[in-house]
Amino acid sequence: MNVLSVVSEVYPLIKTGGLADVAGALPAALAEFDIQSLTVIPGYRKVLAATPERTEIAMLRDLLGHDARIHLCKAGGLDLLIVDIPALFDRDGSPYQDATGAPFADNWERFAVFSLAGARIAAGEIPGIQPELLHVHDWQTALAPVYLRYRLRHVMPTVLTLHNIAFQGQYAFGIMPQLGLPPAAFSIDCLEYYGDIGYLKGGILTADAITTVSPTYAREILARPLGMGLEGVLQKRRNDLYGIVNGIDLETWSPEQDPLLPAPYGVDQLDRRGENRAALLARVGLPDLGGPLFAVLTRLAWQKGSDLIEPVAEEIFAAGGQIIVCGEGDPLIEKGLQALAARHPDKVAVVVGYNETMAHLIMGGADVLLQPSRFEPCGLTQLYAMRYGTIPLAARTGGLSETIIDANDAALARDVATGFQFYPVNAESLRHAIFMVSEVFRDGQTWQRLQRQAMTADFSWSRSAAQYAQLFEALHEHHTRINASDTPSHSRRAI
Ligand code: ADP
Ligand code: GLC
Repeated sequence: MNVLSVVSEVYPLIKTGGLADVAGALPAALAEFDIQSLTVIPGYRKVLAATPERTEIAMLRDLLGHDARIHLCKAGGLDLLIVDIPALFDRDGSPYQDATGAPFADNWERFAVFSLAGARIAAGEIPGIQPELLHVHDWQTALAPVYLRYRLRHVMPTVLTLHNIAFQGQYAFGIMPQLGLPPAAFSIDCLEYYGDIGYLKGGILTADAITTVSPTYAREILARPLGMGLEGVLQKRRNDLYGIVNGIDLETWSPEQDPLLPAPYGVDQLDRRGENRAALLARVGLPDLGGPLFAVLTRLAWQKGSDLIEPVAEEIFAAGGQIIVCGEGDPLIEKGLQALAARHPDKVAVVVGYNETMAHLIMGGADVLLQPSRFEPCGLTQLYAMRYGTIPLAARTGGLSETIIDANDAALARDVATGFQFYPVNAESLRHAIFMVSEVFRDGQTWQRLQRQAMTADFSWSRSAAQYAQLFEALHEHHTRINASDTPSHSRRAI
């Protein structure tokens, strides 16, 4: 089967978070099930710079007034189509924000146009490209199935994956005339959202199936507070909602052969982690105080509970621990953490920014990865951490709750624990959890058992890709059966 995956970021070309990792890793995993993926991404400045070998294969005209050059290329093992519209995508900054961190004012237009491009490619407008299923991700591409149905009137199976419903693409109703959709698309059964227009809502109500990135999150979003306003809409679609947990790319994240680690190691060479620890501490300018090294690697955001680090720092110091933070985001949280580092220069280091080398060094050299997320659809950093024997201390929510086996006494006794969980998400319960973690850390043998269990847990894509493949094939078969019947085309629905 040929799948067209339309997505706003993809590793290794452009990444702001886990969405890029998933979009980058899923195609190879699906290929094992005879599913070929073609990935469509915007021609951001960074993407064009990274793909000099591309070939222009088509021009899509009049995408809400914009013309797009479509380039085909191979990069990072992916087959890519790049939608090149300089006026919308050739800019500095991240895919969504300018250099000051403010969202681009025309994001509503950038991602409507990109979604329309994806829908037109899915519908077969480029000769030689005949996708059999359209897969879109998050609000940025959620309009593609809406365009497919309401504007192009093209019937094919469509799947929307929700990586994070905190971001919904909600815009004032005033943009309606510019979206190029008929009035029916703006009804309460599609885009109308609390008096505004909701891209994600439109996608949820239009796609044939909706997946999200863990079974736990799939349940959590059916109710408040984690439904974040979409719980009613999701309940309507609950029979078509699937939770499929993310895997990780075991080539990029392999402690045995990680080129970014001074001392790669296997599960029986845990002592080699000492060299990575030394390199990590040296890189951030901290002395080695010999205690547990707590690390934070994340977008600094309310979602990630990054504001809770500062209030629990004393508990970490009391355990002889040190803290290394690598992240960027909320300027207030950044400032608070930098002030903490200034007060404790030998115990806390903060690296503001996005840094791939630091990410790997942290996984290979820290002891504990702190993840006090208030919600977490899946979370990938705990998976990387476990693979490297850095033990996650994470909130019991979303994907964190089902990918980590909490080191309670029963799990420790049975040698199945892979990390620590705490709940509710507040400073008091995190302090208590830090105390418990530090106690186990002092018992070197138990800690090493925990590390080995974490490192040998299976986080490969194969099981999850099988679930995607099964879903895609079921939708495809259903579609083919309906198409083969005598149903007049105007009343056909994919599912
Ligand atoms: P989210 O997508 O919500 O940000 P995930 O855990 O799914 O969370 O994915 C985050 C991804 O971004 C991971 O690949 C992680 O390694 C990476 N990452 C987060 N912060 C940084 C940082 N400061 N430097 C480098 N990589 C980072
Ligand atoms: C989102 C979520 C994160 C998830 C990632 C990839 O960014 O916040 O939990 O792991 O998408 O699906």
